[in-house]
Amino acid sequence: MNYKAPRGTHDIFGTNALAMSLLEQQARVIFKKHGFEEIRTPLFEDAALFMRSIGQTTDIVEKEMYIFEDRKSRKLALRPEGTASLVRAFIENRLDISMPAGRFFYIGEMFRYERPQTGRYRQFHQIGAEFLGNPSPAADAEIIILAQDLLFSVGIKEMDVRVNSLGCEKCRYLFREALVKYFCSVRDLCEDCVRRLEKNPLRVLDCKTDSHKFTGVPRISDYLCDYCKDSFNLVLSLLESAGCNYTADEKLVRGLDYYTRTVFEIRSDAVGSQDALVAGGRYDNLVGELGGQNTPAVGFALGSERVLLAARNTGFFDSFQESEKIFIAIADQELFNEAFSFAVKMIRNGLKGGKDISVFGPVNGKSLTSQLKFADKIKAVKTIVFAKTEFENGKFLVKNMKDKTQVEVLIDEL
Ligand code: HAM
Repeated sequence: MNYKAPRGTHDIFGTNALAMSLLEQQARVIFKKHGFEEIRTPLFEDAALFMRSIGQTTDIVEKEMYIFEDRKSRKLALRPEGTASLVRAFIENRLDISMPAGRFFYIGEMFRYERPQTGRYRQFHQIGAEFLGNPSPAADAEIIILAQDLLFSVGIKEMDVRVNSLGCEKCRYLFREALVKYFCSVRDLCEDCVRRLEKNPLRVLDCKTDSHKFTGVPRISDYLCDYCKDSFNLVLSLLESAGCNYTADEKLVRGLDYYTRTVFEIRSDAVGSQDALVAGGRYDNLVGELGGQNTPAVGFALGSERVLLAARNTGFFDSFQESEKIFIAIADQELFNEAFSFAVKMIRNGLKGGKDISVFGPVNGKSLTSQLKFADKIKAVKTIVFAKTEFENGKFLVKNMKDKTQVEVLIDEL
C-alpha cells in the first residue's frame, strides 16, 4: 500500500520550506514594529464557536469545516480561520486586562474542505493580525498598511487593494430590505441563492453562479448612515496620505458574516485567479456576540501559500542566505571519535570569523571515496579530512570540493 498525503494537503520542503520560514520570520519583525504580540490558539475548537462567528449560511460553515466528535461526543472542528479562536481566547483569558494594547498576531495552519487548485488547499497557512479595542478608522487603515508591509517584505509591489464599507447594523438593515426586494424580482435564482435570500440576503451578492444577473442591484453606499460614511471616508483618506493605492469596490462583501463597516482584500495577478492574498475587515460586534464585553475590532489574514506563489518572481526566492556546508571525513577509521568530537565542537563554536556554516559527518565504516562522493552530493563547499599522519602532526587536510585542491591546515587554525 502506498500512502499519499490527503487531497488538498502538501508537504513543504526544500526552498518552499525556507521561503515559508523566511516569510514568517520577516512577519514577526514587522509585527513587532507595529506593536503586535503573538498568540497561539488550539488547532481545534468547539465547532459551535465557528458556526456562531463565521455565520451559519457562509460557505465555510455550510460546506468547508472539518467537524468531528471526540470520545466524549463533543462536537469539535479544525479551525478554518483564526479570528473566532482569537476572540474566544481574548474573552476567556481576559486579555483586555493582561494585554491592554489589544494587538495580536498568529501564524499557523487552517483547514477548509475546499476544491483544491493552485493557491487553494484543504490545509493551508495563515498569518493574521487582530487589533481589539480601537474603534477608530485609523486602526482600519493601520491594519491595511500592516498587511501591505508584509507583502512588500517578500518583494510584492504590484497589488490590487480593494476596500468597501458594509455599514453598521442600522445601515445594513435598510440595505438588506432593499436587497430582498431586488432579489425577489430576479428570475431563476440558483438553489443556494433562494435559500440564502431567506436567511442572509447579503450572501446572495457573493454567488458565483448568479452574480452576472444582478444588474441594477442596490448599492450599499446609498444606505450608509452618516457615521459609517464619515468613517469610511476617513479610512480612505488615511490610506491615501500613507501612500496606499486602493480601489473602493462596492462589490466586495466577503465570505464571513462577522464584518461591520470596513472590509478589504489585497489581490495579485501573479496567483492567476481572482483569489485574494490578504483579506480582512472590522468586526465590532463579534466580541460581544461571543459573550465578552462589547469591544471594537479589526484584523486581517494572509494566505502564506498564496503570498509565496505571488513572490515567485520578485527575487524573494533568490534572497535566501544558504549556509556553507562543511563535511568532516575520515581517511582512517580509528580517527572516528576525534572527528566526531571535532564536528560537535565546530557545530557549537562555528568557524573563526563567524561564517554561517552547516556541519555534516563524520560517517562510520565508509571508504574515503564514498565519503567524498557523498560530500559532493550534498554540495559541501569544503571537506575536512582526518588522516593519521597529518593528525599526529596536529593538522588535517582541507579539500576544496569545487576545484578539488587540498591544503594542510593546523587544527587550531579553524
Ligand atoms: P479569509 O478571506 O477567509 O478571511 O481568508 C484570508 C486569506 O487566507 C485569504 O485571502 C487567502 O489568502 C487565505 N486562504 C483562505 N482559504 C484558503 C485556502 N483554502 N487555501 C489557501 N489559502 C487560503 C479570514 O480567514 C478572516 N479570518 C480574515 C480576518 C482576520 N478578518 C478579520 N480578521
